[in-house]
Amino acid sequence: MQTDVVVLAAGKGTRMYSDLPKVLHALAGKPMLTHVLDTVSALEPHNIHLVTGFQSELIKQHYAKTNYARRVHWVEQTEQLGTGHAVMQAVPTINDDAMVLVLYGDVPLIKVENLQKLINIASHTGVAVLTLDTPTPGGLGRIIRNNRQQIVAIVEEKDADDEQRKIREINSGIMAFKANMLKQWLQKLNTNNAQGEYYLTDVIAFAHAEGVIIGNVQTSDCDEVQGINDRLQLTELERSYQIRRARELAKSGVTIADTARLDIRGELHIGRDTTLDVNVIFEGTNRLGNRVRIGPNVVLINCEIGDNCHILANSHLESVVIEENCSVGPFARLRPGTALKKGAKIGNFVETKKATIGAGSKVSHLSYVGDAELGADVNVGAGTITCNYDGVNKFKTILKDGVFVGSNTALVAPVTVGTNATIGAGSVITSDVPDQDLAVARGKQKNISGWKRPVKITAE
Ligand code: UD1
Ligand code: CA
Repeated sequence: MQTDVVVLAAGKGTRMYSDLPKVLHALAGKPMLTHVLDTVSALEPHNIHLVTGFQSELIKQHYAKTNYARRVHWVEQTEQLGTGHAVMQAVPTINDDAMVLVLYGDVPLIKVENLQKLINIASHTGVAVLTLDTPTPGGLGRIIRNNRQQIVAIVEEKDADDEQRKIREINSGIMAFKANMLKQWLQKLNTNNAQGEYYLTDVIAFAHAEGVIIGNVQTSDCDEVQGINDRLQLTELERSYQIRRARELAKSGVTIADTARLDIRGELHIGRDTTLDVNVIFEGTNRLGNRVRIGPNVVLINCEIGDNCHILANSHLESVVIEENCSVGPFARLRPGTALKKGAKIGNFVETKKATIGAGSKVSHLSYVGDAELGADVNVGAGTITCNYDGVNKFKTILKDGVFVGSNTALVAPVTVGTNATIGAGSVITSDVPDQDLAVARGKQKNISGWKRPVKITAE
């Protein structure tokens, strides 16, 4: 049986007070709508019909370079006349014998298991609704049941009477239907309600009147069905999601200083006995080995970190591959293309970019190492700079195994320093240095004896 998914995302999102369409606001580093599209993709639907209206061009632009540009059937709802009207725009291209699953682009944490359950139930009954029992039903559609506990209708808060408002079971908005039945019910919708809209929720009463049993999946997880209408809800759902992920990690063998001070925006793989101090942020895909220690305030973006590494406080690492037993920071910035071989050390206030730091090599303080290849056991003194850029082109610095670079050296690339060569402190190295040599390139020291310091001129 084929399933067509309809994702509603045409609403204005007025309460976000934003120039960005609401569904493009990120939760855990990913737009809310992408969460929904990724989740429904797991159902392998026949089609994903995305109903957009307000700022639909921005949404299209956002997905232009992704698989969703072609995977999604873009449906325009020019006027936002309600959730029922939005679904009406999508159904003409759906086969009568298909199943239809309706979701909202602003309910990002919906789980595939419950979607699958809804579809299965609706394939027997004709319709099924995902509901939630909540102590805070304010603003949401209430589920009306008869004395046999069967669902008979959904009443929006604005249309509800005092008794109905006391009901704690709410409509998540997520429903599944047999397409042919949905199409018939949609034709009967009208706008005779408090908001003057075509409510999708009215189809429930139509179904019940026809003797159709309304299928139901109940969830107790309010985050799963939490819709986002303003930024406070987004912030709160974000934190709740993050704490949940932190707790899962802690349960799987990672030591976490504080589950409320960890942010994972993407995919994270961690080995055993790894420790995360407070305020660590992961973005993109990160892989950490066993017994890794991450200090406080560290940002890791698309990194691979081997066993026994120690990343000290306040370091920022992006697209970096680090082998085992390395140490980085505090206050280090490792930019894309940095690779640390076994046992390498990067100290404080060091910036690297497109640089390989060989096994056991050390760049301990205050240096910039860019477009560079360092062999094994190289020692780079404090204040060393690779001058990789002439204002137009970038050039490479190569330091072979065992090189010792004295403090405050400028390495003007392209330049190669041979195996076990030594560079005197304060040198400006502009040409290659042969193996074993000592290169010194600085003004020679002159001592002037008998030098008299100036004396203060005093007024007469
Ligand atoms: C809707 C439900 C309510 C449910 C709540 C759950 C209806 C009538 N009410 O109310 O029972 O408890 O969701 O969050 O269905 N949209 C369109 N086009 C439109 C109108 C809305 O695409 O013309 C989209 C919005 O972008 C949003 C979703 O549909 O993603 C829900 O719309 P919203 O206005 O937030 O519905 P609620 O009033 O919250
Ligand atoms: Ca809403």
